[in-house]
Amino acid sequence: MAVTIPVKEFAERRRKLMDRMASDSIAILPAAPERVRNRDVLHPFRQDSDFQYLTGFGEPEAVLALIPGREHGEAVLFCKERNPEKELWDGFLVGPEGAIERYGFDDAFPIADIDDILPGMIEGRSRVYYPLGKDPAFDNRVMDWLKVIRSKVRSGAHPPGELVALEHLLHDMRLYKSAAEIKVMAKAGQISAEAHCRAMKRARQGGYEYNLEAELIHTFMEHGARSTAYPSIVGGGANGCILHYIENAAPLKDGDLVLIDAGCELECYASDITRTFPVSGKFSPEQKALYEVVLAAQYAAIDAVKPDNHWNQPHEAALKVLTQGLIDLGLLAGTLDDALANESYKPFFMHRTGHWLGLDVHDVGDYKVGDAWRVLEPGMALTVEPGLYIAPDNTDVEPRWRGIGIRIEDDVVVTKEGCRNLTEGVPKTIADIEALMAD
Ligand code: GLY
Ligand code: MN
Ligand code: MN
Repeated sequence: MAVTIPVKEFAERRRKLMDRMASDSIAILPAAPERVRNRDVLHPFRQDSDFQYLTGFGEPEAVLALIPGREHGEAVLFCKERNPEKELWDGFLVGPEGAIERYGFDDAFPIADIDDILPGMIEGRSRVYYPLGKDPAFDNRVMDWLKVIRSKVRSGAHPPGELVALEHLLHDMRLYKSAAEIKVMAKAGQISAEAHCRAMKRARQGGYEYNLEAELIHTFMEHGARSTAYPSIVGGGANGCILHYIENAAPLKDGDLVLIDAGCELECYASDITRTFPVSGKFSPEQKALYEVVLAAQYAAIDAVKPDNHWNQPHEAALKVLTQGLIDLGLLAGTLDDALANESYKPFFMHRTGHWLGLDVHDVGDYKVGDAWRVLEPGMALTVEPGLYIAPDNTDVEPRWRGIGIRIEDDVVVTKEGCRNLTEGVPKTIADIEALMAD
């Protein structure tokens, strides 16, 4: 799959970060470590999201150093050297020369030399930005580099005085998606929508939840999205009430709904879609009644995703519709205001209506600035995912409602006028779902 974020955009991000850093500082950021799955088998490698954002460089055993004002180059990459013998076994390595030529770094060195070179780059800088506390092994390496400088103070070396978490600066940048990022996210959304359509069409009595998981993976892979953004949730019947159900091993039953929460990852960008549909292709009256409430809540929340509204407004809009719907169906007593005030809706709706979306499925970025909810601005990407879950053992409601779990989730990006839905390629009205499944 071709990289569609241009190389120069990564350079622009590094520039922007350096512009926000103190002038006599350095930022140090490691690639993700490789992790053993069992014995000689590694987990598939996934680059660290922050490192990916600033480099687009997909190898492990690499470190980025950003050194504003450094004469011989400000953006420096340490990475593995080329090695024809190793590459014969493990595949192509970019190497330091390739990192400069193909990825636009100003300077690059073999990772094997980092302990000799990096302390000299840190020396004389008063502040070090790095992912403080994220990985104890990397914390120790930074301390080791600082010790090298401290050991030379009597020869006139200046160790830095401040260690600062890099995340504050970087994660605010990641919250605002560029046109190129939105393009990749839209493509991921489109692939995931197609996968959900395929699963809907192939749902049938007698299959297992994992059969539908297989259909999703088929479409992801077919389009070059080799990984999911998170483990797929395929919950038939009451399993749809378990928010993070990933066992996906139960038989699908005629008369039940199935809730699928799944999205592919494309070029490290996540998509995140939930659809809920009847195994048989036809909703029952109770399923229909609850589904219409969740759908109306989702529309109300999407309507509230627009510039100048704040982060919590879509949630508040969904909550009102869901709670009023529960009252209208006789599942909750009292008035809307009472139910909202005493949170009596919580047994049926216990999660937030969404989260930021980007390189991480639950993406970075503050939801509040000080005590105030963050105001939505063009370029911010988020999910909108209200749901209703009637626990199978909830004896406060009539048996006909029990064990129904419904969530509807789309990915949207705030635009100047409102928002753009990146995942509208998969139906969500009852009529459209039933029509697709009858097809
Ligand atoms: N699939 C995780 C979520 O919807 O947040
Ligand atoms: Mn989801
Ligand atoms: Mn989500």
